Amino acid sequence: MTRRRILVTSALPYANGPIHLGYALEAIQTDIWARFQRLRGHECHYVCADDTHGTPIMLKAQKDGITPEALIDAVHADHVRDLADLGISLDNFGSTHSPETRAVAERMYRIIRERGFIDRRSVRQAYDAKAQMFLPDRYVRGNCPNCNTPDQYGDSCEVCGATYSPSDLKNPVSTVTGTTPVERESEHYFFRLSAFTDMLRQWVGSGAVTTGVARKLEEWFSQGLKDWDISRDAPYFGFEIPDAPGKYFYVWFDAPIGYLGSFTQLCARQGLSFEEFLAPDSDAELHHFIGKDILYFHTLFWPAVLDAARMRRPTAVHAHGFVTVNGEKMSKSRGTFIMARRYLDHFGAESLRYYYASKLGAGLDDLDLNLDDFVARCNSDIVGKLVNIASRCAAILHRGSGGELAAQLHDADLQHAFTAAADGIASAYEHLDYAGAIRQIMGLADRANLYIDQTKPWLMAKDAARAAEVQRVCTQGLNLFRTLMIYLKPVLPFMADKANRFFGESVWSWEDAGKALLGRRISAYEPLATRLDPKVAARLIETPAEDAAPAAAKAGSPAAGKATASRGTVATGAAAGASAAPAASSAPAPASGPAPSISIDEFGRLDLRVAKILAADHIEGADKLLRLQVDLGELGRRQVFAGIRAAYEPASLVGKLVVVVANLAPRKMRFGVSEGMVLAAGPGGKDIFLVSPESGAAAGMRVK
Ligand code: 2FM
Ligand code: ZN
Repeated sequence: MTRRRILVTSALPYANGPIHLGYALEAIQTDIWARFQRLRGHECHYVCADDTHGTPIMLKAQKDGITPEALIDAVHADHVRDLADLGISLDNFGSTHSPETRAVAERMYRIIRERGFIDRRSVRQAYDAKAQMFLPDRYVRGNCPNCNTPDQYGDSCEVCGATYSPSDLKNPVSTVTGTTPVERESEHYFFRLSAFTDMLRQWVGSGAVTTGVARKLEEWFSQGLKDWDISRDAPYFGFEIPDAPGKYFYVWFDAPIGYLGSFTQLCARQGLSFEEFLAPDSDAELHHFIGKDILYFHTLFWPAVLDAARMRRPTAVHAHGFVTVNGEKMSKSRGTFIMARRYLDHFGAESLRYYYASKLGAGLDDLDLNLDDFVARCNSDIVGKLVNIASRCAAILHRGSGGELAAQLHDADLQHAFTAAADGIASAYEHLDYAGAIRQIMGLADRANLYIDQTKPWLMAKDAARAAEVQRVCTQGLNLFRTLMIYLKPVLPFMADKANRFFGESVWSWEDAGKALLGRRISAYEPLATRLDPKVAARLIETPAEDAAPAAAKAGSPAAGKATASRGTVATGAAAGASAAPAASSAPAPASGPAPSISIDEFGRLDLRVAKILAADHIEGADKLLRLQVDLGELGRRQVFAGIRAAYEPASLVGKLVVVVANLAPRKMRFGVSEGMVLAAGPGGKDIFLVSPESGAAAGMRVK
């Protein structure tokens, strides 16, 4: 087998929030593939970095009263720790804000410019005169030009779905200062993407993406590729464009270049040649793993930018779907926006790695982390099937033969069947059909357990005359287990290392699965895995307030996405249309510390009103929410969903006065549109208390 040289990457997480279980899917998917390649003996380098540039990070740092550098450094340390604890075998985790990324970005840009692929054009854009900055679309809010819903983003309406530009909004407001933006012209730098259409079509045809993705790309080709604005005006946290004072590379231009900046650091540390991997005629492979939301950037912009800069194009771009939790989008208000650290505080990484692997295919389908199924599957497969083989056989072997493996197997054909499965399993890993690999491996585990159940070594061991046979049976069982652990090593690296040491061998390679281990002493067996407790799993989503820290922002989770990132704040109950109950209780939670301060202007934007509850009902299929009809006086009647079901009987609410955030943008939920937010306080569950004004207040009255 020729030794492949492979460079592999996961998309860069934004440096403004912690790693969550959506991003963990991507890191785990990449890591399994990288570990598999290394296990097969290939040279595989896995790099990633923090995505540090852009307006959200600049503004978040300003708001926190720190420099962007201080912000991204703190987040970097957290990311490194979380990824390591998830078992992600990165060879380098860098930052886009590094001298190496800057050098590669400048080098690529200069070549692209010299080759005539940069155009300069004047662009009209929303400008905040008070903050003296141009406003990205998401920093302008106003009434939707289509349906007139207030407080919509500058690029699309969350209620009617219309897309438009910020200048179309009625009553536009800058979210940075609350002032009305003006239109201003500025010169921008465009990358001539359209010049690469034929090259990209040919690249797509080379098998760099799955057929499903290729179909999507065909749609984009048929619409015509638009040139791409790669510049942003100061103030901007990023790299200034060479020979263009006051102009910065747009965050999405230098983000993928961050892969190469990170790889440059690895090359320097390990004496690798950057050019050998990146030259146009390189025979090394370049694989990018990404979420399906950033396909355009990786399958159109990025290959074109590489080609324009006279570099090789990616061998493949592998896109995955989003993570849902218990069948729904991850949501901060529902407590299902689970951060990696929170997960790791409750369970080890390998259960998650195993669960994700058992459900992951090569396509764009979303993956549901169903917590009951997660517990059941890990307990049944890892503990019930896999570890059980080793624990049963090792105990008997140690008792009867002092831990000495027999010189021959009891059933060589069975072992042969296990080793014959190697190619099929390898092919499934190679093609990202991890679910298929796990199915095959667990099918073998079932056969191993059946073998032990049928031979019953514990009964045989009662007859001293059968000691040699017992030894061979246990040797057989342990060899079957060993083969399975080698196959599972990319998914369960920690457990495989422990098992590897238990057998007293040097580090396993894929080929080792084909050789039986005989005639040697093995160590005493130590438990390799323990059962997961469903009560602990339930705690992952019980206390949402603790995770409602800084904005997370990355693919992999549908809810996180760009919207949350560019708002730079925590989505409150509104993200899911639930009541303020979780949000109100999040502020004083001692575990999470005080919420970041807001200015008096920001506070002033809240329209807090007294509301009278006219009706309250349970909602089928929602175990936390009640549907309320409230009277807001001059503002009319509204429907509001509130997460107070555990605390209040619907009938007891009718006639009550409560405080409502009346100008919260309406949110579409599964059950209907929520048109406000009811304020409540307390730790949650039954202990949640509606904020009720003194009687005598009238519906519609302002609260301030
Ligand atoms: O979507 C995101 O979360 C981006 N931070 C991904 C960047 S990936 C690459 F282009 F660097
Ligand atoms: Zn609208």
